[in-house]
Amino acid sequence: MDIEELKRQAAEKAVAFIESGMVVGLGTGSTAVHATRAVGRMLQDGSLSDIIAIPTSEATAREAEKWRIPLTTLQNNPIVDITIDGADEIAPNLDVIKGLGGALLREKIVAAASKQLIIVADERKIVPQLGTVSPVPVEVIPFAQRPVAEFLASLSARVVLRVKEGQTFITDEGNIILDCHFDGIEDAAALGQAIRSQPGVVEHGLFLNMAARAIVAASDGITILKRE
Ligand code: A5P
Repeated sequence: MDIEELKRQAAEKAVAFIESGMVVGLGTGSTAVHATRAVGRMLQDGSLSDIIAIPTSEATAREAEKWRIPLTTLQNNPIVDITIDGADEIAPNLDVIKGLGGALLREKIVAAASKQLIIVADERKIVPQLGTVSPVPVEVIPFAQRPVAEFLASLSARVVLRVKEGQTFITDEGNIILDCHFDGIEDAAALGQAIRSQPGVVEHGLFLNMAARAIVAASDGITILKRE
Protein backbone atom coordinates (compact mmCIF):
# COMPACT_ATOMS: atom_id res chain seq x y z
CA MET A 1 0.00 0.00 0.00
CA ASP A 2 1.41 3.42 -0.79
CA ILE A 3 2.35 5.90 1.93
CA GLU A 4 -0.22 8.47 0.84
CA GLU A 5 -2.97 5.89 1.31
CA LEU A 6 -1.69 5.05 4.81
CA LYS A 7 -1.67 8.75 5.75
CA ARG A 8 -5.24 9.07 4.52
CA GLN A 9 -6.38 6.01 6.45
CA ALA A 10 -4.85 7.23 9.72
CA ALA A 11 -6.34 10.71 9.31
CA GLU A 12 -9.79 9.44 8.45
CA LYS A 13 -9.80 7.09 11.44
CA ALA A 14 -9.02 10.06 13.69
CA VAL A 15 -11.83 12.16 12.25
CA ALA A 16 -14.28 9.58 13.62
CA PHE A 17 -13.46 11.00 17.10
CA ILE A 18 -14.94 14.38 16.11
CA GLU A 19 -18.53 15.02 17.16
CA SER A 20 -20.95 17.63 15.86
CA GLY A 21 -20.73 20.91 17.76
CA MET A 22 -17.02 20.57 18.58
CA VAL A 23 -14.25 23.12 18.27
CA VAL A 24 -11.63 21.29 16.17
CA GLY A 25 -7.92 22.00 15.79
CA LEU A 26 -6.74 21.29 12.25
CA GLY A 27 -3.12 20.20 12.00
CA THR A 28 -0.54 20.89 9.32
CA GLY A 29 1.35 18.63 6.95
CA SER A 30 0.77 15.94 4.38
CA THR A 31 -1.01 13.59 6.83
CA ALA A 32 -3.14 16.13 8.71
CA VAL A 33 -4.40 17.57 5.42
CA HIS A 34 -6.36 14.36 4.91
CA ALA A 35 -8.19 15.04 8.19
CA THR A 36 -9.06 18.58 7.05
CA ARG A 37 -10.43 17.21 3.79
CA ALA A 38 -12.42 14.50 5.59
CA VAL A 39 -13.97 17.09 7.93
CA GLY A 40 -14.87 19.18 4.87
CA ARG A 41 -16.52 16.23 3.13
CA MET A 42 -18.45 15.27 6.29
CA LEU A 43 -19.75 18.82 6.73
CA GLN A 44 -20.86 18.77 3.11
CA ASP A 45 -22.63 15.40 3.33
CA GLY A 46 -24.22 16.30 6.68
CA SER A 47 -22.56 13.57 8.78
CA LEU A 48 -21.02 16.38 10.88
CA SER A 49 -22.52 19.74 11.72
CA ASP A 50 -21.81 22.88 13.78
CA ILE A 51 -18.05 22.39 13.67
CA ILE A 52 -15.78 25.38 14.03
CA ALA A 53 -12.11 24.90 13.40
CA ILE A 54 -8.80 26.48 14.35
CA PRO A 55 -6.12 25.98 11.69
CA THR A 56 -2.52 25.52 12.86
CA SER A 57 -1.01 27.30 9.86
CA GLU A 58 -1.83 29.61 6.98
CA ALA A 59 -1.58 26.60 4.64
CA THR A 60 -4.18 24.69 6.67
CA ALA A 61 -6.41 27.76 6.80
CA ARG A 62 -6.33 27.92 3.00
CA GLU A 63 -7.19 24.22 2.73
CA ALA A 64 -10.04 24.57 5.24
CA GLU A 65 -11.43 27.56 3.34
CA LYS A 66 -11.45 25.49 0.14
CA TRP A 67 -13.70 23.00 1.93
CA ARG A 68 -15.82 25.78 3.44
CA ILE A 69 -15.01 24.68 6.99
CA PRO A 70 -16.01 27.53 9.34
CA LEU A 71 -12.92 28.91 11.06
CA THR A 72 -12.45 30.56 14.42
CA THR A 73 -9.53 31.77 16.54
CA LEU A 74 -8.20 31.01 20.01
CA GLN A 75 -9.27 34.55 20.88
CA ASN A 76 -12.91 33.56 20.32
CA ASN A 77 -12.61 29.88 21.28
CA PRO A 78 -9.73 29.38 23.72
CA ILE A 79 -10.70 25.77 24.46
CA VAL A 80 -10.38 23.27 21.62
CA ASP A 81 -12.24 19.96 21.98
CA ILE A 82 -10.01 17.90 19.74
CA THR A 83 -6.99 18.49 17.53
CA ILE A 84 -5.77 16.12 14.84
CA ASP A 85 -2.18 16.64 13.72
CA GLY A 86 0.75 14.77 12.21
CA ALA A 87 4.21 14.11 13.65
CA ASP A 88 7.74 13.49 12.49
CA GLU A 89 8.62 10.96 15.19
CA ILE A 90 6.46 9.11 17.70
CA ALA A 91 8.10 7.53 20.77
CA PRO A 92 6.55 4.55 22.59
CA ASN A 93 5.16 6.85 25.34
CA LEU A 94 3.51 9.06 22.65
CA ASP A 95 5.93 11.92 23.07
CA VAL A 96 6.50 13.27 19.58
CA ILE A 97 8.68 15.53 17.49
CA LYS A 98 6.82 17.93 15.22
CA GLY A 99 7.71 20.82 12.97
CA LEU A 100 9.36 19.53 9.83
CA GLY A 101 6.44 21.27 8.11
CA GLY A 102 7.44 24.50 9.82
CA ALA A 103 4.23 25.07 11.81
CA LEU A 104 5.38 23.87 15.23
CA LEU A 105 4.66 27.12 17.09
CA ARG A 106 0.99 27.43 16.19
CA GLU A 107 0.68 23.65 16.39
CA LYS A 108 1.94 23.62 19.97
CA ILE A 109 -0.26 26.54 21.00
CA VAL A 110 -3.34 24.81 19.59
CA ALA A 111 -2.31 21.43 21.08
CA ALA A 112 -1.88 23.04 24.51
CA ALA A 113 -5.38 24.53 24.24
CA SER A 114 -6.88 21.15 23.29
CA LYS A 115 -8.70 18.72 25.53
CA GLN A 116 -7.45 15.95 23.29
CA LEU A 117 -4.58 15.83 20.78
CA ILE A 118 -4.68 12.93 18.33
CA ILE A 119 -1.53 12.29 16.31
CA VAL A 120 -1.97 10.68 12.90
CA ALA A 121 0.87 9.05 11.02
CA ASP A 122 2.05 6.18 8.90
CA GLU A 123 4.21 3.51 10.47
CA ARG A 124 7.52 5.14 9.39
CA LYS A 125 7.10 7.71 12.18
CA ILE A 126 7.37 5.22 15.04
CA VAL A 127 10.81 5.32 16.70
CA PRO A 128 12.25 3.60 19.76
CA GLN A 129 13.69 6.91 21.00
CA LEU A 130 13.10 10.54 19.97
CA GLY A 131 15.85 12.23 17.98
CA THR A 132 16.99 9.13 16.16
CA VAL A 133 15.58 10.00 12.72
CA SER A 134 14.18 13.52 12.77
CA PRO A 135 15.89 16.71 13.92
CA VAL A 136 14.24 18.79 16.63
CA PRO A 137 13.07 21.99 14.93
CA VAL A 138 13.60 25.10 17.05
CA GLU A 139 11.76 28.31 16.12
CA VAL A 140 13.97 31.33 16.77
CA ILE A 141 13.62 35.10 16.46
CA PRO A 142 15.89 36.07 13.52
CA PHE A 143 17.75 38.66 15.65
CA ALA A 144 18.98 35.83 17.90
CA GLN A 145 20.08 33.37 15.20
CA ARG A 146 23.79 33.15 16.00
CA PRO A 147 23.73 33.08 19.81
CA VAL A 148 20.90 30.54 19.79
CA ALA A 149 22.69 28.38 17.19
CA GLU A 150 25.84 28.42 19.32
CA PHE A 151 23.85 27.57 22.44
CA LEU A 152 22.12 24.66 20.69
CA ALA A 153 25.49 23.37 19.45
CA SER A 154 26.67 23.41 23.08
CA LEU A 155 23.85 20.91 23.79
CA SER A 156 25.52 18.51 21.31
CA ALA A 157 23.18 19.34 18.44
CA ARG A 158 24.30 19.59 14.86
CA VAL A 159 22.46 22.78 13.98
CA VAL A 160 21.19 23.50 10.47
CA LEU A 161 19.38 26.67 9.46
CA ARG A 162 16.25 25.65 7.55
CA VAL A 163 16.29 26.75 3.94
CA LYS A 164 13.48 26.26 1.44
CA GLU A 165 13.83 26.81 -2.30
CA GLY A 166 17.18 28.54 -1.75
CA GLN A 167 15.80 31.02 0.80
CA THR A 168 15.87 31.05 4.59
CA PHE A 169 12.57 29.49 5.65
CA ILE A 170 10.34 31.97 7.49
CA THR A 171 7.49 30.69 9.66
CA ASP A 172 3.93 32.02 9.76
CA GLU A 173 5.04 34.07 12.80
CA GLY A 174 8.02 35.61 10.96
CA ASN A 175 10.72 33.52 12.63
CA ILE A 176 13.49 31.19 11.42
CA ILE A 177 13.92 27.50 12.21
CA LEU A 178 17.13 25.86 13.39
CA ASP A 179 16.93 22.09 12.88
CA CYS A 180 18.86 20.33 15.65
CA HIS A 181 20.15 16.85 14.87
CA PHE A 182 20.92 14.59 17.82
CA ASP A 183 21.98 10.95 17.89
CA GLY A 184 18.98 10.01 19.99
CA ILE A 185 17.66 12.05 22.95
CA GLU A 186 18.11 10.49 26.40
CA ASP A 187 16.06 12.99 28.41
CA ALA A 188 13.62 14.88 26.19
CA ALA A 189 12.08 16.85 29.08
CA ALA A 190 15.47 18.17 30.22
CA LEU A 191 16.45 18.99 26.65
CA GLY A 192 13.16 20.81 26.05
CA GLN A 193 13.61 22.89 29.19
CA ALA A 194 17.20 23.74 28.31
CA ILE A 195 16.23 24.86 24.80
CA ARG A 196 13.37 27.00 26.13
CA SER A 197 15.71 28.71 28.60
CA GLN A 198 17.70 30.43 25.85
CA PRO A 199 16.59 33.99 25.00
CA GLY A 200 15.52 34.20 21.38
CA VAL A 201 14.04 30.70 21.31
CA VAL A 202 10.32 30.94 20.69
CA GLU A 203 9.42 27.23 20.75
CA HIS A 204 10.76 23.77 19.99
CA GLY A 205 9.29 20.73 18.32
CA LEU A 206 9.34 18.38 21.32
CA PHE A 207 5.66 17.77 22.15
CA LEU A 208 5.94 15.95 25.47
CA ASN A 209 2.97 14.65 27.46
CA MET A 210 0.59 16.21 24.99
CA ALA A 211 -0.80 13.49 22.71
CA ALA A 212 -3.71 11.47 24.06
CA ARG A 213 -3.68 9.01 21.16
CA ALA A 214 -1.64 8.18 18.11
CA ILE A 215 -3.34 6.56 15.16
CA VAL A 216 -0.74 4.78 13.09
CA ALA A 217 -1.49 3.19 9.74
CA ALA A 218 0.62 0.31 8.44
CA SER A 219 0.14 -1.95 5.45
CA ASP A 220 -1.23 -4.66 7.74
CA GLY A 221 -3.73 -2.41 9.53
CA ILE A 222 -4.29 0.59 11.79
CA THR A 223 -3.16 0.72 15.43
CA ILE A 224 -4.58 3.17 17.95
CA LEU A 225 -2.02 3.84 20.68
CA LYS A 226 -3.27 5.47 23.87
CA ARG A 227 -1.22 7.41 26.41
CA GLU A 228 -1.02 5.37 29.63
C1 A5P B 1 4.14 20.56 10.60
O1 A5P B 1 4.80 21.66 11.14
C2 A5P B 1 4.57 19.33 11.27
O2 A5P B 1 4.55 19.34 12.66
C3 A5P B 1 3.85 18.11 10.74
O3 A5P B 1 2.75 17.77 11.52
C4 A5P B 1 4.81 17.02 10.73
O4 A5P B 1 5.97 17.52 10.12
C5 A5P B 1 4.30 15.80 9.98
O5 A5P B 1 4.14 16.12 8.64
P1 A5P B 1 3.78 15.04 7.57
O6 A5P B 1 2.45 14.48 7.93
O7 A5P B 1 3.77 15.78 6.27
O8 A5P B 1 4.85 13.99 7.61
